[in-house]
Amino acid sequence: MDALAAIGARRSIGRLVEPAPDGATLQAILAAGAMAPDHGDLRPFRFHLLRGPSLDRFGAVLEAAYLARCAAVDAAPVAAKAEKERTKLRRAPLVVVVSTVRVASEKIPWIEQQQATAAACQNILLAATALGFGSMWRTGEPVYDELVKDALGLRSDDAVAGFLYLGTVADPDAAKPPRAPDLTGLVTEWPA
Ligand SMILES: Cc1cc2nc3c(=O)[nH]c(=O)nc-3n(C[C@H](O)[C@H](O)[C@H](O)COP(=O)(O)O)c2cc1C
Repeated sequence: MDALAAIGARRSIGRLVEPAPDGATLQAILAAGAMAPDHGDLRPFRFHLLRGPSLDRFGAVLEAAYLARCAAVDAAPVAAKAEKERTKLRRAPLVVVVSTVRVASEKIPWIEQQQATAAACQNILLAATALGFGSMWRTGEPVYDELVKDALGLRSDDAVAGFLYLGTVADPDAAKPPRAPDLTGLVTEWPA
């Protein structure tokens, strides 16, 4: 699949099934991430792989982080929300947690290090699409949570860019169609 075809075909798929990409296929997908434009060649992105029992172990981290957030504001935790945090990583057989490890640099601002990581995320989604897999980029409160960062071995200064869910689309016939491109209001010739 060429680049424009992959861009057109990529859609967020909420539930994915086995098989997940693995072996050389997964390496190719992650390598696409590492080939993102990266100002200063700082290589600020990191990819943590969650699969099999790790999905449950990290789900326990997400649940504990939710309970701690509730406790921090003296709010009663909602059982259904706690359960969702515990189980949601199972919506795909592989989750790649993509983060930015902040590099001290006088030349490259932190925002650009995060932008490079976002480009890495998109490269991963597009490579997965091109290789026939479904994907979804998710964030939510866990990406900003210190307990979650800590479980990944990140520092407070670092940032989680997202949880990239990867796997197989259960019923390709029912998959979402490509989005119709819409440039309305987005493009202006300058000067007008
Ligand atoms: C930075 C980022 C974070 C996202 N986080 C979530 C999320 O937490 N939950 C969710 O349902 N979708 C999330 N999405 C996916 C978007 O909702 C989705 O891309 C958008 O609805 C367009 O649909 P499409 O990806 O099928 O084209 C996120 C996308 C990006 C780029």
